[in-house]
Amino acid sequence: MTERRKTDFLIIGSGVAGLYTAVRAAAHGSTILVTKGRVPDSNTYYAQGGIAAAISESDSPQDHLSDTLQAGAGLCLEEAVEVLVSEGPRRIFDLISLGTRFDRLPSGELMLGKEAAHSHRRIVHARGDATGAELIESLAAHARQVPNLTIIEECLALELLISDDRCVGAIMLPKEGSPWWCMSRATVLATGGCGQLYSHTTNPTIATGDGQAMALRAGAYLFDMEFVQFHPTALATEATQMPLISEAVRGEGARLLNAEGIRFMSGVHPWQELAPRDVVARAIFAQMQQGSQVYLDATHLGENFPSRFPGIFAICMERGIDPRRELIPVAPAAHFIMGGVRTDLNGATSVPGLFACGEVACTGVHGANRLASNSLLEGLVFAERVAQTVKNAPFLTARAHTMAKPAVDPTSPPSPSQATPAKELIQELQKIMWDNVGIERSASSLEQAIARIDSLAAQDAAHTFPAYNMLTVAKAIAGAALMREESRGGHYRKDFPVQRQQWQQRRIAVHREGMRVVSATNPNMIDRGGSK
Ligand code: FAD
Ligand code: SIN
Repeated sequence: MTERRKTDFLIIGSGVAGLYTAVRAAAHGSTILVTKGRVPDSNTYYAQGGIAAAISESDSPQDHLSDTLQAGAGLCLEEAVEVLVSEGPRRIFDLISLGTRFDRLPSGELMLGKEAAHSHRRIVHARGDATGAELIESLAAHARQVPNLTIIEECLALELLISDDRCVGAIMLPKEGSPWWCMSRATVLATGGCGQLYSHTTNPTIATGDGQAMALRAGAYLFDMEFVQFHPTALATEATQMPLISEAVRGEGARLLNAEGIRFMSGVHPWQELAPRDVVARAIFAQMQQGSQVYLDATHLGENFPSRFPGIFAICMERGIDPRRELIPVAPAAHFIMGGVRTDLNGATSVPGLFACGEVACTGVHGANRLASNSLLEGLVFAERVAQTVKNAPFLTARAHTMAKPAVDPTSPPSPSQATPAKELIQELQKIMWDNVGIERSASSLEQAIARIDSLAAQDAAHTFPAYNMLTVAKAIAGAALMREESRGGHYRKDFPVQRQQWQQRRIAVHREGMRVVSATNPNMIDRGGSK
């Protein structure tokens, strides 16, 4: 008989969204947080630039809203952005009261950085470029003192448990020991993104889209999956996970040069290196397609480089590049997904009992393209809202306990004999996604990708963790990208290279029963009946 544990709230994931939800939810009931690696194993831990919030006196939530809407290329849900920018500053001060130490000026004021497409300096950061590490370390230290909160590391959430169409928990597989069922009155996905679908990414190995895949199988909707953000400036290396060279370096005046030393962004966009991310990423990609390596020149920072960007300085020096004097070779890499599990403004998905926040979710704040440093902010703001909402979740009935079953039969990590085929399958998938569903797409590249994903899905190794989830999410991205016949934000179609009016108000909803185009503005579309 499989062991069952009961808790009020189950939180899956230990990035900013999971830790913050757990800390807040535990005030209202027993809380279990599970995470598949150790607590720091998350995208959050790697965050460099910082958290955007309208804190300075010369700034305003209204200006932050306009910048966010502009970056989102007409697809942001404005009411979600209003929540983000108006509640953001309070969350920063909450973090400070929980022990997070942001960088400050000698006057004691918070030091604010600048990043692309922001009209003001508004990025709070920590230890120069180690914002994510400071965030995780401070939140985790606090979380470990919170009564009512149990943190379980190295424990995979494999599949959601469903009873009468309601999510009632998840199946867990610890690194050591047998699977167990965690029964909960509210289950919160905080599982992050899926950058590992691509052969070049800034994301660590945990980012395999588990939450999006589990939610889809449980009957939730995924929205905006075609919008993947490629960061323009990862350090050009052969490894799948490429170290990031923060946009904040360009914010401090660094320039992009091609192999001939030409500052090519001058001819591309009036904001040059600080143009929206998709514009800069495509311009670099175009240079690379023409055979030119691209470099970031931050030599003007000289001796200030190591103190302002100590982590990036160390990363470069380890590879024999001294950014005080030398150019840094850079290349774009998959970084973030704007789409995810569709939620309302309180993190509720279309499956009762199931909530999502952070990168796994799609609140609509990012539209077609995320503004730099709005992701950590989104994680915090919507985590708080989820925590305030789950306290009202109904208690599980005896029937819910009796009728609970997994949304589908769970997979498990590959056995020793499956390990090599599963690894090869994932590598092939990553290449398919990079080559065909990457910075530039077309109907033929996407059709080819879908056919190849389908054929990978027919292999035995496809039924192992995390390949199963990765294939599911890859198919959702490629399918939505094929459907959107225009270019907008992070989604660039070579065969439809401009924005098209008819797509301005339309979003793509992916459901286990199929995909459809829905109105972008109808807030009822995620009601129990789903999108219309
Ligand atoms: P994550 O931090 O990715 O956490 C997900 C958690 O879920 C992890 O603990 C993971 O192990 C766990 N998990 C996943 N699947 C399972 C499963 N099946 N079972 C159990 N646990 C599971 N954004 C900004 O706003 N500012 C920045 O400066 C910034 N810099 C970035 C730099 C880098 C290099 C990267 C990669 C991203 C950066 N981003 C930045 C984006 C931002 O860091 C992420 O979008 C954000 O941290 C996501 O937080 P999260 O809590 O939703 O997910
Ligand atoms: C960066 O520091 O460039 C990353 C910021 C972000 O992804 O928001």
